[in-house]
Amino acid sequence: VVRDGVEPLIRRLETYAREYLGRDDEGRERYYYEVRAQEPADEVERAARMLFLNRTCYNGLYRVNRAGRFNVPHGRYVRPRILDADALRRASRALARVDLRSVDVGDAGADAEAGDFVYIDPPFVPLSETSSFTDYTTGRFGMREQLELRWLIDELTERGVLVMLSNSDVDWVHTAYETARYRAGEAFAHHRIDRVPARRMINSRGDRRSPVDELVVMNPPLVEALRRGAAR
Ligand SMILES: C[S@@+](CC[C@H](N)C(=O)[O-])C[C@H]1O[C@@H](n2cnc3c(N)ncnc32)[C@H](O)[C@@H]1O
Repeated sequence: VVRDGVEPLIRRLETYAREYLGRDDEGRERYYYEVRAQEPADEVERAARMLFLNRTCYNGLYRVNRAGRFNVPHGRYVRPRILDADALRRASRALARVDLRSVDVGDAGADAEAGDFVYIDPPFVPLSETSSFTDYTTGRFGMREQLELRWLIDELTERGVLVMLSNSDVDWVHTAYETARYRAGEAFAHHRIDRVPARRMINSRGDRRSPVDELVVMNPPLVEALRRGAAR
């Protein structure tokens, strides 16, 4: 919808913004839960509802229950920016020539060829048992899927595809990617693993929204392409 029908989307969000911001606290809360309970069929309406809820819900969190229903409570923003028309128009222009697909990660890389760049931002390996974030959608992404992802990256690497992966800075990820080795002539090539500080925007406690490290894994074809690019 952002790509193909941004103006109707903006108009619908204008209505949401007017109706929501014009109410007192109680009215806003009631309005939020009414919108949350709706299941619109129209595409523009669905996109507008999604953005409205994202801007007015608790901490901008996205979470669904087992039935797949969005279940985040109302947030407490004084003046949430429900409509940012400029940003939406910029996003629309940026997406104009983009082919968007919603498929399993295992199928997403199927037609990637040597020299193509693939960036993978999977659900992260949890930092601890209790901080498990694998539950934030109904489709669970557990350790089995993390391992399958590692195999997928092996396949892509063998094919010469340039791969970058983000994940959490935990032992499992280090071990899984440090031990991968690929034939490079007589020698073996390894992934490059960089630790990068990342600002966590979402945490149930505001005071814990501090920078945490994340890992960026780059496969040998990507490291080589960057090296050649830098040399030029
Ligand atoms: C860390 S988030 C990616 C966030 C995204 N890069 C962004 O900036 O909005 C991980 C995403 O992987 C999706 N996901 C979970 N299991 C998947 C699967 N098997 N195949 C593809 N995507 C999956 C989740 O729905 C979630 O949106």
